[in-house]
Amino acid sequence: MGVVEERIHAGHVALVTGGGRGIGAATARLLAHRGAAVAIAARTEDEVVSVVAEIRARGGSALPLVVDVSDEHSVASGFERVRSELGPVTILVNNAGTPGVPLPVAATEVTDWRRVFEVNVTGAFLCAREALPQMTAENWGRIVNVSSAAARHPLAGMAAYGASKAALDQLTRVLALEGGPYNIVTTGVYPGVVDTRMQEESRSFGANLIGKQLHRMFQGYRDFGMLREPEEPADLISYLCTPAASRLNGHILRLGQLEALQREP
Ligand SMILES: NC(=O)c1ccc[n+]([C@@H]2O[C@H](COP(=O)([O-])OP(=O)(O)OC[C@H]3O[C@@H](n4cnc5c(N)ncnc54)[C@H](OP(=O)(O)O)[C@@H]3O)[C@@H](O)[C@H]2O)c1
Repeated sequence: MGVVEERIHAGHVALVTGGGRGIGAATARLLAHRGAAVAIAARTEDEVVSVVAEIRARGGSALPLVVDVSDEHSVASGFERVRSELGPVTILVNNAGTPGVPLPVAATEVTDWRRVFEVNVTGAFLCAREALPQMTAENWGRIVNVSSAAARHPLAGMAAYGASKAALDQLTRVLALEGGPYNIVTTGVYPGVVDTRMQEESRSFGANLIGKQLHRMFQGYRDFGMLREPEEPADLISYLCTPAASRLNGHILRLGQLEALQREP
């Protein structure tokens, strides 16, 4: 656990989008273990209910939320429920995301393009917009946007995903400026290649659909042992929700940076 104290998130209410599985579920478990009351939001009810049950069984506090982050009303009513049942949200992890279908631009349907932006960018915007007044009133907040190295490194066939994560990174930097005066620290995370449903789905696309290069890349992540466990990015995200992260406002961190951050005073 490094220098992070066992109950470092005690007294905080966290909302984790995409918390039903993968990186979001690992993050929700860790935030709860470290003392936060955690609202777990995603569209698949049995997945959020099961993560909540696990947290409660270990003595933690959690609330299941069936929310589509791309839907303004769904997000607003989810936040309203959290406020009335747990209290004001002071930690927001914008983790829900979709890769879309990795096709070249010429073969991409506009509906697929829009869906990727609606979930990965508009979803984070809508959640931040709900959380900000509550954080401002508390004069303290942490927003972590789960991005991807695809925001910086162009990959043929991944225009929508890469462009959406680049947009998310700019949202991170602007939120950092706007929230700074109220002790609201916004950061981004590039989680690396993580063993989740998203990677499993990426491996399931045939070479005839997505091309040999991407197909080889997705298979190679597994075949060459490059997949990390979701607990690794969860640990970095948890760190970014602590008081120590105040010096990182507007920064976008890679997985490997956690140890160095924890060593610094
Ligand atoms: N795995 C990787 O290698 C990797 C690498 C770089 C970045 N990332 C990023 O990490 C984040 C988490 O991905 P993951 O790998 O953990 O994938 P995952 O296991 O597929 O989980 C994605 C989560 O997002 C939720 N979600 C998707 N669309 C949603 C919507 N419209 N509203 C609410 N929730 C929604 C999903 O639940 P429902 O489907 O039930 O809604 C699920 O809980 C994503 O932002 C992804 O881009 C992952």
